[in-house]
Order: sequence, then structure tokens, then C-alpha cells
Amino acid sequence: MSDHPHPPSFDENILKKVEALQEKYAAMGQDLNAYLDGLLHADYLTYWDYINLDTLLSLQHPITPFPDESIFIIYHQITELYFKLALHELDQLNTSASKDPDLILKRVSRVNRYFEALTHSFEIMVDGMDQDQFLKFRMSLLPASGFQSAQYRMIEIRSTSFDRLLREEVREKYEDHAPGDLEELYSHIYWKAGAVELATGKKTLTLRQFEVKYDRTLLELAENTFEVNLRSLWNGLPVAAQTDDLRQALRWLDTNVNINWPLSHYKSAVRYLQRDPEDIAATGGTNWQKYLPPRFQRRIFYPELWSEQELANWGKGWVEKEVFGVK
Ligand code: HEM
Repeated sequence: MSDHPHPPSFDENILKKVEALQEKYAAMGQDLNAYLDGLLHADYLTYWDYINLDTLLSLQHPITPFPDESIFIIYHQITELYFKLALHELDQLNTSASKDPDLILKRVSRVNRYFEALTHSFEIMVDGMDQDQFLKFRMSLLPASGFQSAQYRMIEIRSTSFDRLLREEVREKYEDHAPGDLEELYSHIYWKAGAVELATGKKTLTLRQFEVKYDRTLLELAENTFEVNLRSLWNGLPVAAQTDDLRQALRWLDTNVNINWPLSHYKSAVRYLQRDPEDIAATGGTNWQKYLPPRFQRRIFYPELWSEQELANWGKGWVEKEVFGVK
């Protein structure tokens, strides 16, 4: 028996890792020893720090005393986070590698899942707030509106070619546009026909503020995604790569973004705002009844993937059943 303490014994794997680390740091002229000190002193990571929980939970600031205003704020924030997830997928379809149909399918399926979650949870808005409270606190929020969500528009711009986002009457005219035409197309973008005053047809402050803040950014996005928006990617695929699965996923995306989500949203507008003429004031008296329903908008990302009949009935069945209770 020796009097010496046992030499430290290390698992073979650990020694190998230390060697690999030594090489990694040496390659950058760094001293592994100093970094190991850092590791020794560092705290263990916690859940709350990792996801920035305290910050996240500190971002809700109601501006009225009505308790249900918090529901309205938090649900908008949840929606924006889902929009961020959707953009996180679509943003990655920006290189030539994006022309792989399996990769497109994977990303589109993820975006579909996010939109399904949003559509299903929209009942939180439709049934989950007290209408008396809503109509009161909503007046304190004017002219702010979800209409001003730029992420929503970015999802649309990444999903299709820009002509598909114009008001329906000019879509055909701009079908074969070039990147240099995008600025002209932008003046016909569908959302400039929304958030206008019902009485005068003038742009509301809601729309004007949105234009000042986001017009440039959105136009630049349209320019940058001219070749890598989902519609261009699909149409650029060789026929053999235009698989049925991808076709279905894109049709589903069209349905989710242009029918299902807008209809659950519209349902909440009908539920809260359509009661009597006084309530119209809660939107600032806008043209939302003509503007929001998908059957009027007829926004369709991929017309080539739908039959004549499907196109003709765009947005019809569901709205009659879900919003107006027609059997
Ligand atoms: C009780 C709940 C809600 C009501 C009553 C409501 C009402 C409205 C109205 C009336 C508009 C038309 C624009 C206007 O005339 O000002 C609008 C647009 C919009 N809202 Fe909401 N909204 C609600 C919840 C939400 C939520 C939770 C979101 C999520 C971000 C949202 C996002 C949007 C978007 C993206 C638009 C533009 C739609 C388009 O341009 O087609 N809304 N909303």
C-alpha cells in the first residue's frame, strides 16, 4: 500500500474529450485551463433564466382596470410568438438548398401546425372575455389594432408571389411582374383597402401608422423573396418533385392562413362588435364587415392547386356554418 493519495482516475471518454477540447481551444490560441476555470465558477443553468421567464411574464401592461384586458394582451402575444415560429420556418427557405421538396414539406407542415393551434385556440377570444369589459377597454386602445401586425403580413409575403396579395381586381394584371415592378404592385396591396373609415372611405390612423412604420420593410421583404417565396419554390420544382404530399401541405397552408384563421378571427369581431350601431365605435368605425370575411377578400396563395369549383366557393361553407350557425 502506498501513502500517496490515489491518482485521479478518469474515464477514457473524458480524457478523450479533454484532448479534443485542448485542440479546439489551441486552434484559436486559447488556453483551455482558463476556460475550465470559467466552467468551475459558472452557475448551473436554470429553467427561468434559460427561457427568460421573469422578462416574459413582465411584458403584460394593461392600461385599464378591467381584468379581461390581460386576456386580450396575452392572447395577442401568444399569437405573435406563433407567428414568429412560422417565420422561423419560412425564413429558412431562402437558399438554393430550399429547392429540396422534402425540406419544403417539413417547413410547411410545421407552419400548418402552428396555424392549426392558433385557429383552435381562438375560442379564447371568442368566448373567453366578458363583452361588457371588452367594449369598454377596447376604447382605450384605439387606434391600435391587430391589423398592425407586421409578422402576419410577412408570413403572407413569404408564402406566395406578390401579385397574389393585391386586391382581387388587379391580380391578373400583375401576374407576370418583375422585381422592378414590386413598388407599383405595393400600392395595390390588399391591406390598404382595410382599416378605412366606414363613413368617409378615408384611411384610419391605424393604417397610416402601419404604413409609416412598415412599408419599406415589407417591400424589401417582397424584393428579397421574389424567387424564394413558397409559390415560386413550388412552381420552380421539376414536375417529379411536385409530390402529392407537398401539394396537400400547400393547399392546407392556403386554407389555414386564408380561410381558417381569418374566419376564427372574424367570428370574434362578429361576436364582440356586431351587436348594435354604438359598438361600431369600438373599431374606430371601420369597414371591417366588408373587409375581413375571406369570401370577400378571396386571398388565395396557390390558385394553381385548386379546382375551378373550389376557387369559386372560397371561404363560403365554413363561414355560414361557424359564424352564422347555418346548417
Ligand atoms: C376580440 C378579439 C378581436 C377583435 C374584436 C378584432 C377585431 C379586428 C378588426 C375589426 C379588424 C379589422 C381592422 C379594423 O377595421 O381595424 C382586425 C384586423 C386584424 N386583427 Fe383583429 N381582432 C381581435 C383579435 C385579434 C387577435 C388576437 C389577433 C392576433 C394577432 C388579431 C390580428 C388581426 C390581424 C392580423 C388583422 C388584419 C387582418 C387582415 O388584414 O385581413 N386580432 N381585427
